[in-house]
Amino acid sequence: MRRPFIAANWKMNKTISETQDFISEFVPQVKEVTDVDIVIAPPFTSLTAAAEVLKLLVDTHIILAAQDVFYEEKGAYTGEVSHIMLSEIGCKYVIIGHSERRQYFNETDEIVNKKVKAAKRGGLGAILCIGESLEEREADKTFDVLEREIDRGLYETDLENVVIAYEPIWAIGTGKTATPGQAQEAQAFIRERLRVKYDNKADEVRIIYGGSVTPDNIDSLMVCKDIDGALVGGASLKVESFIKIVKFNRI
Ligand code: PGA
Repeated sequence: MRRPFIAANWKMNKTISETQDFISEFVPQVKEVTDVDIVIAPPFTSLTAAAEVLKLLVDTHIILAAQDVFYEEKGAYTGEVSHIMLSEIGCKYVIIGHSERRQYFNETDEIVNKKVKAAKRGGLGAILCIGESLEEREADKTFDVLEREIDRGLYETDLENVVIAYEPIWAIGTGKTATPGQAQEAQAFIRERLRVKYDNKADEVRIIYGGSVTPDNIDSLMVCKDIDGALVGGASLKVESFIKIVKFNRI
């Protein structure tokens, strides 16, 4: 069976001291949650501090992730961060192709694919985000968009260490969650699409849902067959609500 994967995407939130406070409070309260990959993705500036606090809290199983990575290893790329820098801090995963990066920073599928390849080259897991806009859903284009973003995002790569995050853009930060039915339908489609190219390996890939996940809707999402976890924005910023999410109801 696929091990659940629940990740906090803090986006551009939390200073170093806020990161330290969150982790020191959060970790002792999730000690017994050993059946889920619990991932935290703070902003770049807080990664080192997060890694240090995690080291101090012996026995922690929290996994550190970054929110982006550049596809080159070093050089004249002002403002960018490479997989080598992230690995040195202790990051194990990186979020790639989040819709906010596609929207505000013009990331194309081609750039996303280069970043996925760079992460994998550097031994980092890639959390590849895909998802349709409201207009695309209303125009019945959801599956076309997902197919394109999967095929191009994963062009010439294998599925090793890849997690797919299905994040319908209309559900991100809007309080409008996809219904479990809508999320399951899209995620089953994603798995089928992966099967075409990767055969049975598609059954091993974690496909997680993101978009207004809260302690109130996590249970109904996690019971769905093809939903293996969550990428959580707003509700991951408070210790209490993120604890409730990682302690979702197991049946
Ligand atoms: P949200 O964000 O939970 O605030 O909707 C999710 C995401 O963008 O990853």
